[in-house]
Amino acid sequence: MRILVTAGPTREYLDDVRYLSNASSGKMGYAIVEAALKLGWEVVLVSGPVDLPVPEGCEFHPVVTTSEMREASVLLFSECDGVIAVAAVCDYQPKTRITGKISKTGEPVLFEMIETDDVLAELGRIKKSRWVVGFALEAQNPRENALQKLRRKNCNWIVLNDPSAIGSESNSVELINSTGDVEETWSGSKSEVAWNLTNWLSNRELSCQ
Ligand code: CTP
Repeated sequence: MRILVTAGPTREYLDDVRYLSNASSGKMGYAIVEAALKLGWEVVLVSGPVDLPVPEGCEFHPVVTTSEMREASVLLFSECDGVIAVAAVCDYQPKTRITGKISKTGEPVLFEMIETDDVLAELGRIKKSRWVVGFALEAQNPRENALQKLRRKNCNWIVLNDPSAIGSESNSVELINSTGDVEETWSGSKSEVAWNLTNWLSNRELSCQ
């Protein structure tokens, strides 16, 4: 089994020094990489900037922006059997990135923001016989929103967690399938949740390329 994992946040630059991002630590994604390596899988990790050591034995592709993550992921997915998309992708980018550094004027500053590429939706579109697992971070109507996300992004399963997972050592998740059923519930350290998820996947009859 050879899998792609996306992890960490992405950054979208407003000018050459300032960026928009989020508080993702990358811990959940990196724990999944470690667990998959323990199972003997080959792991390709596409990661935004995080403060974590690169798991020994994975194929590591560091990226910064969402479009870099999209480009690397689409390319690398072609040689994988499946993907687990854990990245906390920055959803907005400025319509225009300013060259240099914006100087303060004492006045409010307005940026027109547009949505970034949806990496997982793109992988879902091109997946063919490969399997796709997404993550859904939901504050309201969690199961309903997670299922909508699974369908919109053409995932086989989606892992539902809530915003308390960000930056935390632990996580509490539900694994939801394409008919909206909760197949599994796991709580514990991110390593334990990662181990449960990867083991669960390894016991499925996943179609490989
Ligand atoms: N994702 C992605 N590219 C994006 C946004 C999200 O690949 N531009 C992936 C995430 O890695 C995750 C899943 O899509 O696997 C859901 O991410 P989430 O942040 O929960 O949802 P969004 O699609 O960003 O929607 P919203 O912010 O409106 O909840």
